[in-house]
Amino acid sequence: MKFSTFTQVVSLSSLLLGVQGISLDRNEACKPFKPFQPLPSSHPRTKTCKVEANGHGRDDSNNILKALKECNNGGKVVFDKDFYTIGTALDMTWLKHIDIEILGHVQFTNDTDYWQENGFFQTYQNATTFFELGGEDVNLYGTGILDGNGQAWYDLYVENELILRPVLVGVIGLNGGTIGPLNLRDSPEWFHFVANSSDVLFDGINIAASSTNSSVEVKNTDGWDVYRSTNIVIQNSIIQNQDDCVSFKPNSTDILVQNLYCNGSHGISVGSLGQYVGEVDIVENVYVYNISMYNAENGARIKVWPGISSELSVDLQGGGGSGYVKNITYDTFYSYNVDYAIDVTQCYGQDNLTLCNDYPSNLTISDVLFYNFSGETSTAYEPIVGTIVCSSPDVCSDINAYDINVVSPIGTNEFQCAYVNETTLAVNCTET
Ligand SMILES: *[C@@H]1O[C@H](CO)[C@@H](O)[C@H](O)[C@H]1NC(C)=O
Ligand SMILES: *[C@@H]1O[C@H](CO)[C@@H](O)[C@H](O)[C@H]1NC(C)=O
Ligand SMILES: *[C@@H]1O[C@H](CO)[C@@H](O)[C@H](O)[C@H]1NC(C)=O
Ligand SMILES: *[C@@H]1O[C@H](CO)[C@@H](O)[C@H](O)[C@H]1NC(C)=O
Ligand SMILES: *[C@@H]1O[C@H](CO)[C@@H](O)[C@H](O)[C@H]1NC(C)=O
Ligand SMILES: *[C@@H]1O[C@H](CO)[C@@H](O)[C@H](O)[C@H]1NC(C)=O
Ligand SMILES: *[C@@H]1O[C@H](CO)[C@@H](O)[C@H](O)[C@H]1NC(C)=O
Ligand SMILES: *[C@@H]1O[C@H](CO)[C@@H](O)[C@H](O)[C@H]1NC(C)=O
Ligand SMILES: *[C@@H]1O[C@H](CO)[C@@H](O)[C@H](O)[C@H]1NC(C)=O
Ligand SMILES: *[C@@H]1O[C@H](CO)[C@@H](O)[C@H](O)[C@H]1NC(C)=O
Ligand SMILES: *[C@@H]1O[C@H](CO)[C@@H](O)[C@H](O)[C@H]1NC(C)=O
Ligand SMILES: *[C@@H]1O[C@H](CO)[C@@H](O)[C@H](O)[C@H]1NC(C)=O
Repeated sequence: MKFSTFTQVVSLSSLLLGVQGISLDRNEACKPFKPFQPLPSSHPRTKTCKVEANGHGRDDSNNILKALKECNNGGKVVFDKDFYTIGTALDMTWLKHIDIEILGHVQFTNDTDYWQENGFFQTYQNATTFFELGGEDVNLYGTGILDGNGQAWYDLYVENELILRPVLVGVIGLNGGTIGPLNLRDSPEWFHFVANSSDVLFDGINIAASSTNSSVEVKNTDGWDVYRSTNIVIQNSIIQNQDDCVSFKPNSTDILVQNLYCNGSHGISVGSLGQYVGEVDIVENVYVYNISMYNAENGARIKVWPGISSELSVDLQGGGGSGYVKNITYDTFYSYNVDYAIDVTQCYGQDNLTLCNDYPSNLTISDVLFYNFSGETSTAYEPIVGTIVCSSPDVCSDINAYDINVVSPIGTNEFQCAYVNETTLAVNCTET
C-alpha cells in the first residue's frame, strides 16, 4: 500500500462530514462494525472563533485558550492554514459541545526541560501529556498537522531512558467525541493516551514518526494507549511507528478497532497487564477487525506479566498483578514481514520460563478468538510463525484459533504452544 492510501482515508471520512465539518451522528461513521454501545450524537455548532498565530515560533497558547473560551458550549475553533507553536501545557478538560478544526501546522516546542516539569503527569507508566483534552462532546479534526517535534526527545532518550517524554494527544476524561481526520507527526512518546474516557471515536488518523538521525531510534511511539476507558472506536487509520500500533492497557472495555494499516509497529496489543502488584487489570470486550500489519514485531498480541517480578528493560519492569483478559476477538488480520503473527504470552518480561511456570500469572486469559489470519511472517523466529504461551493451564481458558493461514518465508506454519488447550487451536502446535 502506498502513501496515497491516506487520501483514500481522508476522502472516505470527508464523505461523512456534515455542515459543521463532521457528522453529528457518530454511529453512522462506524463501518462495518458498530460500537459496543451507541455513541452519543454531537450537537450543532453555531459560532466560529479563529486562533491567531503569533508566528516566529512564539507561543500561541494564550490565543488558543482565548478562542476555546469564546467558542465553548456550541462553537467551533479554527486553526487556520498557518504555523502555530505551543509552548505551554494546556488544560482543556473543561470543554463542552465544541469543535476544534486544525487546518495548519501546529507544533509543540522542544524545550525538554519545560515539558518534563510541566507536562501533565498521568501516573500510569510515568506517562505525561502535552495537553489534556476532555469534557463532553468535543470534536478535533482537520486537514492540518499536530507535530510533536520529537527529534530532541529521541536524542535525549539515548542519554537517559527515564526522561518524561510527553504523549502528543492526551484524551483525558472525554465523554463523547470524535478525533479525526487528522495528521499526527513525530510524537516524543505515544501518539494518543486515552484515559478516563468513554464514547470516543477516532476516525481517519494518519500517524507517522521518524528520526532524522539514523543512529537514534524513535522509541515507544505507540499509536494509541487506552486506559480506564470504555466504548472507544479506532478506525480507518494509517500508523507508521515503532512500538504498539494500538494497545489496550488496564481497564479498557468495549473497544472496537477496525480498518487499520500499521507499518513498523509491535502489533495490536492487549497489555501489558499485571505489571503492578496489588493492582487489578481488566481488559474485556475487544473486537479487532481488518488489520494490515507490515514490518512488525507482532500482529495480534496479548501480553501479561507473570506472577513474579520481571524486567523487560531498564524502564519497564513488573509482574505479580492480577485481573483478567476476557472476550477478545481478532477477526481478519493480514501480516507481512511480522515476527509473530499471533503472540500470546503470560511470561512477559521473564526470559526464564521455568521461573514463569513456577510463579504463574495472577491474571487470567479467557474467551479469546483469532480468526481469518493470512500472510507471511519475517525470518525472525522461522520456522515458528506464532506463539501461545500460558504460564499454567489454570490461568488460560477458551482460547480459539481458526482459519489461520500464515506461513514463514520458508513455508512453515509452526506455533509454539504451552499450557493451553490445543483442541480449540487450529494451528500447528509444536512441543517446546
Ligand atoms: C482518572 O480518574 C481517577 C479517579 O478519579 C484519577 O485518580 C486519575 O488520576 C485519573 N487519570 C488517570 C490518567 O488515570
Ligand atoms: C517511573 O519513574 C521512576 C522514577 O524515575 C522509575 O524508577 C520507574 O522505573 C519508572 N517507571 C516506568 C514504568 O517507566
Ligand atoms: C527544536 O525545534 C526547533 C523548531 O522546530 C528546531 O529548529 C530545532 O532544530 C529543534 N531542536 C532539536 C534539537 O531538534
Ligand atoms: C546522531 O546520534 C548519535 C548518537 O546519539 C550522535 O552521536 C550524533 O552526534 C548524532 N548526529 C547528529 C547529526 O546529530
Ligand atoms: C480494510 O481496511 C482497509 C484499510 O486498511 C480498507 O481499505 C478496506 O476497505 C477494509 N476492508 C474491509 C472489508 O472493510
Ligand atoms: C514501512 O516502514 C518501513 C520501515 O520504516 C519503511 O521503509 C517503508 O517505506 C514503510 N512503508 C510504507 C508503505 O510506508
Ligand atoms: C480496574 O477495575 C477494577 C475493577 O473495578 C478495579 O479494582 C481496579 O482498581 C481498576 N484499575 C485501574 C487501573 O483503574
Ligand atoms: C463479547 O464480545 C462480542 C463482540 O466480539 C460482543 O458482541 C458480546 O456482547 C461480548 N460479550 C459480552 C458478554 O459482553
Ligand atoms: C531459572 O529459574 C529456575 C527456577 O527458579 C532456576 O533454577 C534456574 O537457575 C533459572 N535459570 C537461569 C538461566 O537463570
Ligand atoms: C500471585 O501469584 C503468585 C505465584 O503464582 C502467588 O504466590 C501469589 O499469591 C499471587 N498473588 C495474588 C495476589 O493472587
Ligand atoms: C506442521 O509443521 C511441520 C514442520 O514445519 C510440517 O512438517 C507439518 O506439515 C505441519 N503440519 C500441518 C498440519 O500444517
Ligand atoms: C479442551 O477443549 C475441549 C473443546 O472445548 C474440551 O472438550 C476439553 O474439555 C478441554 N480440555 C481441558 C483440559 O480443558
